[in-house]
Amino acid sequence: MSSDEMKKAAAAAALEEVRPGMRLGLGTGSTASWFVRLLAEKVRDGLDVVGVPTSEATDRLARELGIRIISLDDVAGLDLTVDGADEFDPDLNLVKGGGAALLREKIVAADSRRMIVITDESKEVEALGAFPLPIEVVTFGATATVRAIADAARRSGLSGGISFRQDGSGNRLVTDQGNWLVDASFRRISDPKALALALNRIPGVVEHGLFIDMASTVIVAGRSGIRRIDRQTI
Ligand code: A5P
Repeated sequence: MSSDEMKKAAAAAALEEVRPGMRLGLGTGSTASWFVRLLAEKVRDGLDVVGVPTSEATDRLARELGIRIISLDDVAGLDLTVDGADEFDPDLNLVKGGGAALLREKIVAADSRRMIVITDESKEVEALGAFPLPIEVVTFGATATVRAIADAARRSGLSGGISFRQDGSGNRLVTDQGNWLVDASFRRISDPKALALALNRIPGVVEHGLFIDMASTVIVAGRSGIRRIDRQTI
């Protein structure tokens, strides 16, 4: 199986959890876009669901494919969010934001009864941090915010380069919410919960890509098939 086939297989497994009438959070990235495409096929066959996209890109894709889109403000909570991840650890903590959508992804996941993460086996790690941690920052005082992030990291025993993410034209990438993103190369985050709390305390940090205790299930597609890890079974 190619990496893309694994992503599709994980998305197909998550689709089995979808029931008529559900309000769904629609993730962002190459794996989540498989879920959106497969979901759209079911919608064309008559499945009645509504979706809240986690990015402008997913919004466009879902609308193009005929999925009914609603705003998170129109409903009192979602039934299920299906999204990808950049890394997950044995406690099902995640690093997300490689696709720059971590803020909406976290808001949507936090408002969902369940979050299913779909990945290929390359995302499974023993400790988070090899993938640079995306952190969304307010543009005002961004350099001061980066200094505060580095200080907080140092107090947590972490160090590493922190750089502004660039877009295709070499400018600072602007997120869907009009903020900037920095990527922090901490390499190994031994206590993700403590780092998450420390980052939450920095005023210029809007959100970060550590998703702690949020995933209910991770579906991992690998060469030997599909594996499902549920939070209650770990
Ligand atoms: C988007 O901001 C991310 O959180 C994605 O969910 C993550 O980067 C995984 O993307 P892929 O499925 O493309 O690897």
